[in-house]
Amino acid sequence: MDARILCTLCLQLLAGALVAFSKSSVCQLIGGTFFLSSAMHWTVVLINRYLNVSADSTYLEGNAIPVIITDNKKCKEMLGGDRTHTGAGIPGIQEKLAARARPNFRLRLAFGIDNAFTTDDEVWYREFKKRVQCSLKAISQERWHILARDARSLATSKLQRSASSPLVPLVQSITLRITLEAFFPKNPVRLRDQHIETVAGEINRVWMVSKDDPRSESWRCQLKLRDALAELIPDAKVFEPRENPLNIILPAYETMWRVVLRCFVEVWQRHVEWQGAFEDLLRNPGASQAPGEGHNEARAFHAVKEAFRLYPPTRRVHRHYADPSTAKRVWEAADIETCHRSAEVWGPDPLVFNPGRWANAHANLGASLLAFGAGDFTCPAKAGFGYRMAAILVAALLDAVGQGPWKLDMGNDEEELAEGVPMLSGRDAYVQAMLVRSEEECR
Ligand code: HEM
Repeated sequence: MDARILCTLCLQLLAGALVAFSKSSVCQLIGGTFFLSSAMHWTVVLINRYLNVSADSTYLEGNAIPVIITDNKKCKEMLGGDRTHTGAGIPGIQEKLAARARPNFRLRLAFGIDNAFTTDDEVWYREFKKRVQCSLKAISQERWHILARDARSLATSKLQRSASSPLVPLVQSITLRITLEAFFPKNPVRLRDQHIETVAGEINRVWMVSKDDPRSESWRCQLKLRDALAELIPDAKVFEPRENPLNIILPAYETMWRVVLRCFVEVWQRHVEWQGAFEDLLRNPGASQAPGEGHNEARAFHAVKEAFRLYPPTRRVHRHYADPSTAKRVWEAADIETCHRSAEVWGPDPLVFNPGRWANAHANLGASLLAFGAGDFTCPAKAGFGYRMAAILVAALLDAVGQGPWKLDMGNDEEELAEGVPMLSGRDAYVQAMLVRSEEECR
């Protein structure tokens, strides 16, 4: 039995004894305090057990802060798992998985998931990755056409219905809807706007709250999110961590909407010369065999790739090592955003959205893009899905705003769109931004 659990059990017994045998109120107070804290601990342990989670809550304890790694080479090593501290010898896959699973423990608690990011079980990791690779492979050329067509009509119909639209929920709901269509094609998904918006908004909320306080959110309490999910995917097994659809939805949607938002604003507001490439892509979304073959398709992919560089949706990737020989714990974070903005790697204009840098890019530049991880843990969506899906969603949004005179009102973040300054990259940025039909149209 884990030493911490044993200690807690002893304390709990001691508390019980104090309460039972003491006559003094001070003893009762001490006993009561011990009893309450033990009860809280056991609640967390029981939830973990229920979710098939081992009781490793080391990440949740204390006020430790990570060592931030900003060097590109070291970040790459860390992402691939090669910096995993083992005490001795070369790290094996199980140790690499454990180092990733520990900091992602909060996601198991908050979303009831068990996937490649949260597991240290090698067999399940391989099985899950295979499932993802199969889903990605199953998206045929024909399917890309359907996804692009649906993204386009969805964006257009959403904007047609109103004189103004909050930008973030618009991007979130289009991204989530098309993601569900891509990964759950067999489900006759009842895609009601209300449920899409609830799932999109709740994922974002729970993600942020669980980051601030990992203990505060548990999957059992996420009634709103679970109900809306069940409406969208009626046969979803939300209480089976390995079958929970959020295993796929989180990596596919949560990262995607943020990069789509920024790429869309950059191309619409600051770099109109790239809009033509997106128009072409929407007409022929699955045309070439490999991403980037046609001229304009390549240009659209360059713009998207640049958005992944300047605005990597996973800004920091964490690893938590537990060296068994010294019992020393090390917490490191690869600062991908800082690596992606280094002049040493990207030249004199690292803060400028410049898709042109990818036109004649040397292979080394591609290898410095860490938005999809690196080494053994490279994201399976990097090869084709990630760029194509992002490009299609950006194209659909550009097409929709192009149909009416829309303007962008950034609310309090207006000054943040100054030329040469990157957009804000926080998850909660631009919540006040609105698309507003311009006055000429209304008259
Ligand atoms: C915007 C698009 C995406 C971005 C930026 C992204 C980013 C990443 C990153 C940074 C990693 C490495 C995480 C780590 O090392 O801890 C990763 C791994 C992974 N991603 Fe993605 N991802 C995206 C889309 C997707 C999609 C659509 C899926 C499929 C549903 C997916 C599934 C996975 C899986 C299974 C891994 C684990 C790979 C492994 O450990 O071998 N991702 N992703």
